[in-house]
Amino acid sequence: MTQLKGKNVLITGGASGIGKEMAILIAREGGRIVIWDINRESMQEVVSEIKKAGGAATFYQCDLSLRENIHETASMVKQEHETVDILINNAGIVSGKPFFELSDEQIEKTFAINTLAYFWTVKAFVPDMIKQNSGHIVTISSAGGLIGVNRLSDYCASKFAVFGLDESLRMEFKSRGINIKTTVVCPFYVNTGMFEGVKTRFPAILPIMDKSEAAKKIVNAIKRDKPRLFMPPIVYTVPLLRCLPVPVFDRVADFLGINKSMDEFKGRK
Ligand SMILES: NC(=O)c1ccc[n+]([C@@H]2O[C@H](COP(=O)([O-])OP(=O)(O)OC[C@H]3O[C@@H](n4cnc5c(N)ncnc54)[C@H](OP(=O)(O)O)[C@@H]3O)[C@@H](O)[C@H]2O)c1
Repeated sequence: MTQLKGKNVLITGGASGIGKEMAILIAREGGRIVIWDINRESMQEVVSEIKKAGGAATFYQCDLSLRENIHETASMVKQEHETVDILINNAGIVSGKPFFELSDEQIEKTFAINTLAYFWTVKAFVPDMIKQNSGHIVTISSAGGLIGVNRLSDYCASKFAVFGLDESLRMEFKSRGINIKTTVVCPFYVNTGMFEGVKTRFPAILPIMDKSEAAKKIVNAIKRDKPRLFMPPIVYTVPLLRCLPVPVFDRVADFLGINKSMDEFKGRK
């Protein structure tokens, strides 16, 4: 079990959405929250909400698309706190456009925030976890990190990448006898506004999840040291469906409405 009480917990993208919900929940259980986000005002609001409720929280403005900014912010955090015990790589963006409408800059930005930033924070904070032989790395991937989706080429590719990062780190820690826990999270759509406008064909089995419900499940998975959390449960069938011939796999995805889910996507304004 991972105890949250008294732990320093860094949450990237913690100013809104799932990150904010996790920050509030973890602070309630006694975790000391450190939020990194680009949005100063929203971070301030989350931190004062946590403090008003008697919790401990602080924030750092950081543009996670910039490697240097990540390393500078990491140095500040290390000076001001002893360690990061739990690292939650959560910040993400979505373009939501067909491949040939994506500019080169958009593709690079998606990878910088959704993928590379996850590498740089691991590089910054995990050496201290290795020294202490304890810690927990949480990677927020996506159901789109398990299956490619129409109009989500850059997003899905960036999420497949961090799924691979999580699994490789887990293998590396295991083979070196290092006691660092990892949790990868692959949610279907969540109602944070990031995917505003998306549709689900079968809400009974593929619901658009509520953000507080999603955050609660993630925090429970962290506490229980679950290496993997897919949600809703039907997402666990995706790796199994890959045993099917590709045309059958594609037909199942189409039947479930996956490749039409982005047809009315608006995203965050
Ligand atoms: N929502 C879903 O349906 C869904 C489904 C599967 C997986 N996920 C994943 O879950 C994670 C959280 O998503 P969410 O829905 O909670 O999204 P969200 O509400 O948009 O939260 C993401 C946070 O990251 C921040 N951010 C964006 N670019 C940044 C940058 N360059 N530097 C620092 N912070 C930056 C955002 O700030 P601004 O608001 O100022 O841009 C925002 O506060 C993401 O990794 C997402 O891919 C979400």
